[in-house]
Amino acid sequence: MLRIKDLNVSYNGIPALKGVSLEVREGETVSVLGPNGAGKTTLLRAISGLVHPQPGSSIEFMGKEIVGLPAASIVPIGIAQVPEGRQIFPELTVLENIEIGTARRTDRAEAKKDVLRMFELFPELKGREKQNGGTLSGGEQQMLAMCRALASKPKLLMIDEPSMGLAPVVVQRIFRFIKNEIPKLGITVLLVEQNTALSFAVSDRAYILAQGQVAMSGTVAELSRDQRVKETYFRGRTV
Ligand SMILES: Nc1ncnc2c1ncn2[C@@H]1O[C@H](COP(=O)(O)OP(=O)(O)O)[C@@H](O)[C@H]1O
Ligand SMILES: [Mg+2]
Repeated sequence: MLRIKDLNVSYNGIPALKGVSLEVREGETVSVLGPNGAGKTTLLRAISGLVHPQPGSSIEFMGKEIVGLPAASIVPIGIAQVPEGRQIFPELTVLENIEIGTARRTDRAEAKKDVLRMFELFPELKGREKQNGGTLSGGEQQMLAMCRALASKPKLLMIDEPSMGLAPVVVQRIFRFIKNEIPKLGITVLLVEQNTALSFAVSDRAYILAQGQVAMSGTVAELSRDQRVKETYFRGRTV
């Protein structure tokens, strides 16, 4: 579904991604792990058309090259991003935040129904349709950001560090949703996380980024057995 080859991205001449190649097949949940500054967010932003890769970089989605497409045309082809730090609109209501996700859909009647379906997926948001997004708790804002992305009816959902800054019980809720509900919707997932145990619990395969390069990749089963992964990425981490 998504095939990235030799992706290079620099900020002001300083490389952030160096020859990254990665693949996500339809129906998979694939994690990208790595410490702060490894280039995880840059990877998602390159896919979303928000940063511009260097010549020679290739990002194919459903068999079509998407490098160079304007960011505005990425959502309509079926790619949605739940950004790092949620980035919901605090002055807009919960309902308006979700409706923004449907802005580029042409099937308006179906889109309207999908907005209402979001409250079935996250009953926590029910009854809060008219509340401003900024008044929600961190966990509820994460749910809202997921709803906004899902309302665009994506084929591929990219989620950037959903566990960041949330209480463990809320993190469990979000990850149960990623593991159990998203596959039922027929959506493929590219998940960025720093918590190895959490992401392994919901993923089929993973890529470990270090300093802008893929340091390791494999199935979750393979990586879990790897001594380097155990020593470097599981220290002090629990599910
Ligand atoms: N807008 C930007 N301008 C300049 N440098 C940036 C910008 N965004 C990220 N970087 C740099 O690119 C590298 C990768 O950052 P990022 O993709 O945010 O990593 P991660 O999400 O893995 O923490 C870091 O060195 C970071 O400082
Ligand atoms: Mg990041």
